Amino acid sequence: MRLIPRELHRSQRPSSTAEAVTLARAAELRRPVGDRIVTDEYAPHFLSGPARVVERSLGVTGGAYRALERLAPAGVITFSLVRHRFIDVHLARCLDDGVEQVLVLGAGYDSRAYRFAAELSGRPVHEVDLPPLSRRKAAIVAAHPEVFGHTRVRRVEIDFRTQSLAERLLESGFAVGARTFVVWEGVTPYLDRPAVEGTLATLGDVCGQGSTLTLDFWQRLPAVTTGGRLREAAARSFALIGEPLTFAVTPDDAAKLLGSHGFTVADLADHRELESRYSTGGRASEASTYVVAARKR
Ligand SMILES: C[S@@+](CC[C@H](N)C(=O)[O-])C[C@H]1O[C@@H](n2cnc3c(N)ncnc32)[C@H](O)[C@@H]1O
Repeated sequence: MRLIPRELHRSQRPSSTAEAVTLARAAELRRPVGDRIVTDEYAPHFLSGPARVVERSLGVTGGAYRALERLAPAGVITFSLVRHRFIDVHLARCLDDGVEQVLVLGAGYDSRAYRFAAELSGRPVHEVDLPPLSRRKAAIVAAHPEVFGHTRVRRVEIDFRTQSLAERLLESGFAVGARTFVVWEGVTPYLDRPAVEGTLATLGDVCGQGSTLTLDFWQRLPAVTTGGRLREAAARSFALIGEPLTFAVTPDDAAKLLGSHGFTVADLADHRELESRYSTGGRASEASTYVVAARKR
C-alpha cells in the first residue's frame, strides 16, 4: 500500500481534490440553510466510504470544527465554497440571459447539471474530466435515478495536457460558436502553462461571442509572515495527495492571458471580495486564490 498516492496524471484513480471539495460541500449541509455558503444536496452521494466517515466525524466534533474553520489554514476549504457560489451566481444570471449550453471542464463531482435542472430547461451540459473520475461519477449517477433524475449530461473524457479539447467536444455534440457558459473550477493550479494556454485557445475558438468563462487561479504570495509560511506549506502539501500545485499567475497576468484568447474580465473577486459577498460565520477565504468571470468578445 502506498502512503502517498501516485501522481494523478500517472494513475488510474479519480482525483482526491475533487472528492475533498465535494466533502466540503457535503459538510456545509450540516449548517442551518441561512448559514450556508452553498447548498449542494447531491454532494453526499459522491463521497467514498472514508470520506463519509470524515463527514460524519465533522458532525460529531461540531463546536470544535466551527472554531477550526475560522483559522487561516481552513481558508482553502472556505475558498472552495465561495468560488462555487460565485460561479453559481454567474451561471444563474447567464441561464436567465439566454446562454445556449454549459461546459464544465474538470467537472469532478460538480452537480450543477442537477441543481440547475429547472433553469437549464433542457439546455445541454457537457462535463469534461479524466476517465477514472468521469466513469466513477457516471456509475454513481446511473445507480441513483431516483436522486439524479434523467438530466442528460454529455460526458467527455480527456487529459487536458495531452489531448485535443476541440476534437473531444465536437464528438460530444458541442455546438461550436454557440453562446456558452464555461465552468473551469479548481483546475488550472494543477496544470502546466501549455495546458492552460491550449485550453484557453480552444475556448476562444469554440465559444460564441457573449459566452462567459468562469475560473479560478492561484498566485504565489511572498512567504514573509507566519501566515505566508503556513500558506506555502499548505500549497506544498497538495503534492502529498498526488496533486501538486503547478500553475500560478497574478491577477494582472491572468487578465492579459484571458485577453490574448478573446476573453475580457467582467468580474474578478479576490479573497476579501469573496468573503464579503458570500462567506458566513466569520470564515476567511485563502488569500492566494481568486475567481474570475470573463466575457468572450
Ligand atoms: C479540485 S478538482 C475540482 C472539481 C470540480 N470542478 C469542483 O470544483 O468540484 C480538479 C478536477 O480537475 C480534474 N483534472 C485535473 N487534471 C486534469 C487533466 N489534465 N485533464 C482533465 N481533467 C483534469 C480532476 O480530475 C478533478 O476532477
